[in-house]
Amino acid sequence: MRVVGIETSCDETGVAVYDSARGLLAHALHSQVALHEEYGGVVPELASRDHVRKTLPMLDQVLGEAGIGTADLDGVAYTAGPGLIGALLVGAAIGRGLAWALGVPAVEVHHMEGHLLAPMLEDQPPAFPFVALLVSGGHSQLVRVDGIGRYTLLGDTLDDAVGEAFDKTAKLLGLGYPGGPALARLAEQGDPARFTFPRPMTNRPGLDFSFSGLKTYALTTLQQHGDDERTRADIARAFQDAVVETMVIKCRRALEQTGLTRLVMAGGVSANRALRACLQAWAATAGAEVYYPRPAFCTDNGAMIAYAGCQRLLAGQRVGLAFTAWPRWSLSDLRPPQ
Ligand code: KG4
Ligand code: ZN
Repeated sequence: MRVVGIETSCDETGVAVYDSARGLLAHALHSQVALHEEYGGVVPELASRDHVRKTLPMLDQVLGEAGIGTADLDGVAYTAGPGLIGALLVGAAIGRGLAWALGVPAVEVHHMEGHLLAPMLEDQPPAFPFVALLVSGGHSQLVRVDGIGRYTLLGDTLDDAVGEAFDKTAKLLGLGYPGGPALARLAEQGDPARFTFPRPMTNRPGLDFSFSGLKTYALTTLQQHGDDERTRADIARAFQDAVVETMVIKCRRALEQTGLTRLVMAGGVSANRALRACLQAWAATAGAEVYYPRPAFCTDNGAMIAYAGCQRLLAGQRVGLAFTAWPRWSLSDLRPPQ
């Protein structure tokens, strides 16, 4: 089965074609960073309008690269939530309309299910069951995954998601949008011994996260030590070290609690090199295996949507002709396809 995947939930347009027999045939990504940069964050209406401009030309592009035409498609998958409502509706309208015009089935994909299945696109995919650490701009979750649509939420964020904490801390360090990768780069130049930030919620049991206090800690440290280049790098380092160690502790706990040995990390923050290195180092000593997507598939992309949609279409799931989108949609509400 050959499925096109369309991702338009936030500030990236992603389109890809996945073939259940041959794997990923082609994918394209357009980032809206340049569009939102001067506003210091995503402007929803500008995001929607840009998805309108980009999605169809990108569809032509990936079909061309895959060497196929629309008549060769057996299904269409689009991100139906969670995300920005206007942005989601662009992908939903295009995806549903395309499927109707071609006379093929369409399926709604949950954006975070896309993320957590993204490692399945790599050469050595994880087998079920596993624990997934989902870390993006809107989510910090630990999920037990027993199969497609069989998700048990083990831990969640009580306030800011980890990507959001990276972005907000980056902003107060004067790094602009998008802050996460910029803060990670600055942290590499920082002195790890100068400041030590707290590891939130690690000294009590449980798998929930809370990252908003670290942002305040960074601000207070900046105010106390002066706003010079070195101090900013040292704060970035202390912030990143605290976030990374907190996540490693929670991942270790989640594996202990579930008795599982496979850990998947996915979502934008899983592109963070320090996080990958620390989890990998810990896993090597603990007899656990860590899986993650290639960096381009950690952040938003169409390939993960094409893959997740293909699995659900193969199992017979379809969406009716009326389309909608779900700005808020919990992963725990998903069910296995039937
Ligand atoms: O998954 P994603 O592309 O979009 C959402 O679904 O939210 O994740 C974007 C988030 C942003 O908060 C961004 O700053 C963060 O992932 N991010 C990073 C890195 N790359 C992206 N955070 C830390 N280090 C990185 N290398
Ligand atoms: Zn995402």
